[in-house]
Amino acid sequence: MARRRQLYEGKAKILFEGPEPGTLVQYFKDDATAGNGAKKGIITGKGVLNNRISEHLMMRLHDIGIPTHFIRRLNMREQLIREVEIIPLEVVVRNVAAGSLAKRLGIPEGTRLPRTIIEYYYKNDSLNDPMVSEEHITAFDWASVHDLDDMVALTMRTNDFLTGLFVGIGITLVDFKLEFGRLWEGDEMRIVLADEISPDNCRLWDAKTSEKLDKDRFRRDLGRVEEAYQEVAWRLGILPEATNSDMKGPEVMQ
Ligand code: TMP
Repeated sequence: MARRRQLYEGKAKILFEGPEPGTLVQYFKDDATAGNGAKKGIITGKGVLNNRISEHLMMRLHDIGIPTHFIRRLNMREQLIREVEIIPLEVVVRNVAAGSLAKRLGIPEGTRLPRTIIEYYYKNDSLNDPMVSEEHITAFDWASVHDLDDMVALTMRTNDFLTGLFVGIGITLVDFKLEFGRLWEGDEMRIVLADEISPDNCRLWDAKTSEKLDKDRFRRDLGRVEEAYQEVAWRLGILPEATNSDMKGPEVMQ
């Protein structure tokens, strides 16, 4: 079988040329990094789980009218996506103080924020993804005022929907990161959700115990990393049952 041409390799995913113009194949690796690559490791089975979790969440978002780059899952580690022009921003949404916000502002982790806070980071590894304001974004033309309006509206709807979805399975959506792209259809341009939504880029805490069910288990060496990702997939109803820690490739329900 002919190999697809690789277009880009990131820390956790690889992008290949898609079968038709305007499509790409997104491959999910088991590689994990933290601190902009300072810490590296492998989380066995992570790619399989994130492919499935992201598929599930993107499809639910599509169902409520949020446009995404996702087309369909191809196999255990790959999904077909639309090729978009990635906006070089990480949009972070916070409901509860944690991570860099807790540290920077001295707010204890776990404090519910008075309202949802959106932050922007400029995607640039050599600069360590610095936090930027709307002023920077529009002045340097990374996105227009109109693009930003669309991104904020999509971000807030995504947060409302995902918060509710996770509450339903006993999980608090503490914070998460979104990326957006421009999708061109002739002369028309739409902003769509891109990248992935998974425990790699969300903070997910058990609602009762506050146990961390996300990549912080890797970042902070808390152990039981694979099990946390499996637990999220299981609660979302996309694994038949929680499996044990030596799982190499989890069984995925169709
Ligand atoms: P932070 O507290 O480290 O700023 O992270 C906020 C959220 O954004 C958290 O859910 C993890 C996610 N995130 C990424 O997905 N990629 C990143 O590069 C960073 C800095 C955060």
